[in-house]
Amino acid sequence: MKHFSKNDINAMDRIYRLNLINSCTGYKSANLIGSVSSKKIYNVAVFSSITHLGSDPAMLTFIVRPTTVPRDTYRNIIENKEFTVNHIHLNDIKEAHHTSAKYPSIISEFDMTKLEKEFIKGYNAPFVKTSKIKLGCKFLNQYEIKENNTLLMVAEINDIFADEAIIQDDGWLNLEIAKSVTVNGLDGYALPSLIDRFEYAKRKNE
Ligand SMILES: Cc1cc2nc3c(=O)[nH]c(=O)nc-3n(C[C@H](O)[C@H](O)[C@H](O)COP(=O)(O)O)c2cc1C
Repeated sequence: MKHFSKNDINAMDRIYRLNLINSCTGYKSANLIGSVSSKKIYNVAVFSSITHLGSDPAMLTFIVRPTTVPRDTYRNIIENKEFTVNHIHLNDIKEAHHTSAKYPSIISEFDMTKLEKEFIKGYNAPFVKTSKIKLGCKFLNQYEIKENNTLLMVAEINDIFADEAIIQDDGWLNLEIAKSVTVNGLDGYALPSLIDRFEYAKRKNE
């Protein structure tokens, strides 16, 4: 097995390190965050750091890269306190990936991709039409991660939209039916297939 030490990692070519470190923690969620600016420019961008934070109350978290350059999603969320999270559908991976291109704030990624906006009552932020699982979220708080100058965003999940076929009797969402993709590193999109589900794990001999 090849070994990369801390010294090796520090000495690596920037792109090699970026690829290695972004993929070494495993598959990540692949979502599009929809948001709107106070000038009504509709923004959509791909994020792989969205993770559930707790279910009661329903909350999620994600990481925003250092705000040393303009970050439209971040600014919109701070301005309007709401945003949408949309699973990336298998058919949308190319367009979804393109939302990471650095467009100026006055340009809407919806105009630069084939992704379509969808408006749902109660939200000014746009949803992504073709996404099969969509969340309506409200910003709660942000925490500075001093070690690398990133921000950890905390939000409440207030509305969940999913096709009936995806929702199982016990509330579990079948992401395989949704054809929601996952991301390997920063540019590899994959479609996982379910192997099995298990009972709540109990100690042996219990
Ligand atoms: C697969 C993938 C995952 C990404 N995940 C994040 C993320 O979790 N946090 C982040 O700040 N940027 C992430 N980015 C970068 C943003 O998509 C990119 O900075 C985008 O331009 C942000 O758009 P905005 O300025 O409109 O918010 C990711 C990019 C890709 C390709």
